[in-house]
Amino acid sequence: MTDTFARIAGIGAYLPARVMTNDELSGIVETSDDWIRERTGISTRHIAADDEFTSDLGVQAAKAALDDAGMTVAGIDLIVVATATPDLTFPATATIIQEKLGSDHGAAFDVHAVCSGFLYALATADNFIRCGQAKSALVIGAETFSRILDWTDRTTCVLFGDGAGAVVLTADQGPQDGQGVIKTHLRSDGKFRELLYVDGGPSATRTVGHLRMQGNQVFRHAVNKIAGSMEELAEMAGIPIEDIDWFVPHQANERILQGVARKLAIPVEKVISTVGRHGNTSAASIPLAMEAAVRDGRIKRGDLILMEALGGGFTWGAALARY
Ligand code: ACO
Repeated sequence: MTDTFARIAGIGAYLPARVMTNDELSGIVETSDDWIRERTGISTRHIAADDEFTSDLGVQAAKAALDDAGMTVAGIDLIVVATATPDLTFPATATIIQEKLGSDHGAAFDVHAVCSGFLYALATADNFIRCGQAKSALVIGAETFSRILDWTDRTTCVLFGDGAGAVVLTADQGPQDGQGVIKTHLRSDGKFRELLYVDGGPSATRTVGHLRMQGNQVFRHAVNKIAGSMEELAEMAGIPIEDIDWFVPHQANERILQGVARKLAIPVEKVISTVGRHGNTSAASIPLAMEAAVRDGRIKRGDLILMEALGGGFTWGAALARY
C-alpha cells in the first residue's frame, strides 16, 4: 500500500489596494523611514479598506489558489483558516469564507496560532489528508492586523500589515514525484505569553484589545527557537538542510530571517523575503512570500521548500514540502 500525501495543487494571494509607506507612518507616530528600514527591512505594508474584512482577503486568496489548481470550491472538502484577526468572535472566519465561496459541504474551522498559524493550519490539513478524513483542503492564512494595532505605539504599529495567502492541498498516492508536504514540526510554550499578546478578548475584558509586544525580548528568542525547530524537522525527515532549494520564513523582520538563515548556513540567495513590501502579515506571511516566489519563477515544481515561523504564545514550528 502506498502512503497518502498532501500535494500543493495551487497557491494564491491577495493584498489590499492601499499601500502605507514609512513616510506616511512618520506623520502618525514619532519614527522615520531610516529607523524602520534599518531595524526591520520594512518599506511598505498594505492596509485593508474599512469595509474589507479578513474573510474578504481570505476569499480572494482562496479563489486565486483554486484557479491555480484548476479546481472549483466544489472539489474542496476542508477549509482551515489561520487567523488571529477573525471577522467576529464567532462564527469561525473559515465558515464565513466557505459561504462567500459558495460552498455548503465539508467542514470549515479556524486555527489560532498567531504568526505560526499558517504552519499549524498546514499541519492540520496535512494530517486530515494523510489519515483519509479529507481528499482536498484549502489552507488559508488571512489577517487584518491593522485593526488590532495601537496606532499611537511606534514600537508595534510600524511592523505589521494586512493580507492573505492560500494553498490548495489534494490527496495524492505518492510519492511518484515526491511532491507534497513532507513533514511538519510544531511547538509552543505558554510561559512567554506576556512578551507578545493582545490586551483584550471576549472573556477577559469584553473588548477587542490591542497588540502588545516586547520586541527585543521576542527577537532574542526567535532565532534560536526557529533554528532549533528547523534542525529537528530536518533530522526527523532525514533531509539535510543544505538540500533545500528555498527557505520561506515567516516575514517578521529582515534581521530575524537573515539571522536564522546565517545560523543554519542557508545561502542568502535561497531566502525568500517579502517583508520589505508586506511588513509582518502574521499567518498570511508564509503563503504570501511563497506565492510571490512562485509567480516570479524562482520556486518551481519539484523544488524543496523549508518554512518556519514564531508567533504569540509563543508558538513556533517548521514545515518541509516539495512544491
Ligand atoms: N521609530 C523610532 N524609534 C523607535 C521605534 C520606531 N518605530 N520603535 C522603537 N524605537 C526606539 C525605542 O523606543 C528605543 O529607544 P530608547 O533606546 O531611547 O529606549 C530604541 O528604538 C530601541 O528599541 P528596541 O526595541 O531595543 O529596538 P530593536 O532593535 O529591538 O528593534 C523591533 C525593535 C524591530 C521591534 C525588533 O525588536 C523586532 O523585530 N522584534 C521581533 C518582532 C517579532 O518578530 N515578532 C514576532 C512575530 S509577531 C506575532 O506573532 C504577532
